[in-house]
Amino acid sequence: MCVTAAALLTSTAFAQSVAGAQYAAGKAFFDTKCVVCHQAGGKGQDGLAPPLTELPGRYAANAQGRTQLGLTVLNGMFGTITIKDKSYNFKMPSFRGESDEDLASVLNYLVFDVNAKHAGAKPFTAAEVKALRATEMDGAQVRAHRDAALKSLGL
Ligand code: HEC
Repeated sequence: MCVTAAALLTSTAFAQSVAGAQYAAGKAFFDTKCVVCHQAGGKGQDGLAPPLTELPGRYAANAQGRTQLGLTVLNGMFGTITIKDKSYNFKMPSFRGESDEDLASVLNYLVFDVNAKHAGAKPFTAAEVKALRATEMDGAQVRAHRDAALKSLGL
């Protein structure tokens, strides 16, 4: 390969990595609907909303964790959670009114763009979100399900 083409390829890869989001639509949705609480890039806010920079990638690895992610956006969550010695106890609203496509794409943005590790997980599809709509829970039940999901992942 000639030097110019190699340089061009390298700079294209670089441009993609700095431009960020593989799931641009999911990022746009996050930046509209979620960022007020979870902050840019899901870094979280002390005492208010948890960071989303590690656990979503881990949840995505098994069925129970994926269910947990889907149930959280579809039903919201309520009750204290602790991440890295910091507690959060505020209400995550339900996003059940949003489309299956938007919810799948925002979860993919979290799992694949925001989380460095995603344990070989496959992307969420609209059909996967649609199937989870049948499970209606209140926020406290989603909070209880979170313990089971973390346990199933050995966390
Ligand atoms: C009004 C503030 C608020 C908004 C808006 C919000 N969240 Fe949350 N979110 C929270 C809070 C608070 C929690 C933790 C709930 C608890 O303590 O039980 C949470 C928890 C979560 C969790 C679970 C984290 C874990 O460790 O289990 C995920 C995933 C999540 N939010 C994703 C989203 C997404 C995606 C959006 C946008 C579609 C969003 N949130 C919008 C406040 C918010």
